Amino acid sequence: MKRIVVLSGAGISAESGIPTFRDGDGLWNQYRFEELATPQAFARDPGLVLDFYNWRRKIVVDAQPNEGHKALVKLERKYEVQIITQNVDDLHERAGSKNVVHLHGEIRKARSTADPNLIVDLDSWELNLGDMCEKGSQLRPHIVWFGEAVTMIVPALKMAETADLLIVVGTSLVVYPAASLVVYVRPDKPKYYVDPKAYPVGGIQNLQVIQKNAGEGLSELVEELLSKD
Ligand code: APR
Repeated sequence: MKRIVVLSGAGISAESGIPTFRDGDGLWNQYRFEELATPQAFARDPGLVLDFYNWRRKIVVDAQPNEGHKALVKLERKYEVQIITQNVDDLHERAGSKNVVHLHGEIRKARSTADPNLIVDLDSWELNLGDMCEKGSQLRPHIVWFGEAVTMIVPALKMAETADLLIVVGTSLVVYPAASLVVYVRPDKPKYYVDPKAYPVGGIQNLQVIQKNAGEGLSELVEELLSKD
């Protein structure tokens, strides 16, 4: 069975009401990520950082997967689909995608500040000061903050190297190492970039740009891929 690798970004969740980062009304246009999404910010003002992620987590908990997420699930009827997402929401999983790797963490999980391998599911949208892990240390959002290691990039790059086809959806491709996945897919393999502001990425062969929203663009692309023999 052919393997399709999907690299998704905030844009695939935009139609579910989850704000992106760099669009007109994006998060980083309203806040400075240095003040909210770095280990230094958490050390300086943990309550502010926890409040920021509580606000974002509430939006995720109240959101529903959209047609874009669902289209990728349909693709699993005929292909082995490996999703590599920059998103910290769980909409791919809630839509039914089976193989999802989160490069930048998962907002509905928390981890111990004493042991980064101690990760817990959050059963509510709130994580507050005083919420401790079983070892007695403060829990923090299970998010890869700027300046922290993207440990999942190693398996993700291996998946990209063996992909038969790549779909990039809803990402500005400005954050590394995630964006480098595109160049790890073999040059001869077909690649699609679904994004209303997508543009041909320099030096990438066999790339077809679909300048549409994820819901419409992925639905059409998936129908085309499922109809191929
Ligand atoms: N459908 C598809 N794409 C969309 C839609 C939509 N409905 N709406 C917006 N987009 C596109 C935008 O055109 C843009 O290219 O989604 C992309 C969002 O880009 P960013 O806001 O930069 O988000 P992303 O690329 O996921 O950011 C990468 O940066 O801040 C860090 O860790 C954070 O994972 C994030 C990373």
